[in-house]
Amino acid sequence: MPSLTVITRDETRHPIEAEVGLSVMEIIRRAGFDELVALCGGCCSCATCHVYVRESDLERLPPLAGDENDLLDSSEHRTERSRLSCQLKFEAGMDGLEVAIAPED
Ligand code: FES
Repeated sequence: MPSLTVITRDETRHPIEAEVGLSVMEIIRRAGFDELVALCGGCCSCATCHVYVRESDLERLPPLAGDENDLLDSSEHRTERSRLSCQLKFEAGMDGLEVAIAPED
């Protein structure tokens, strides 16, 4: 199975199995990482699933959608590597992706 590495806020790296077709948020939550709150359940209305994508992985992700971009603007911690993990569907070509859970707003 493909894998995904989650970096938690204490800067620990956690390689986990990633099921193709799930969102990155669902993969992280199902693996038991509660610090990614994902309050709205993936409806793109809360931004509590904010992650930072490793620089070298950015080019293999789909572009930001308008609503994702607008919601990220509400975060004080937005950077050029910011994405909402509920809006990232994990695909086979994303094996080895690395994301860090962003600080809480
Ligand atoms: S879970 Fe709410 S915006 Fe992603």
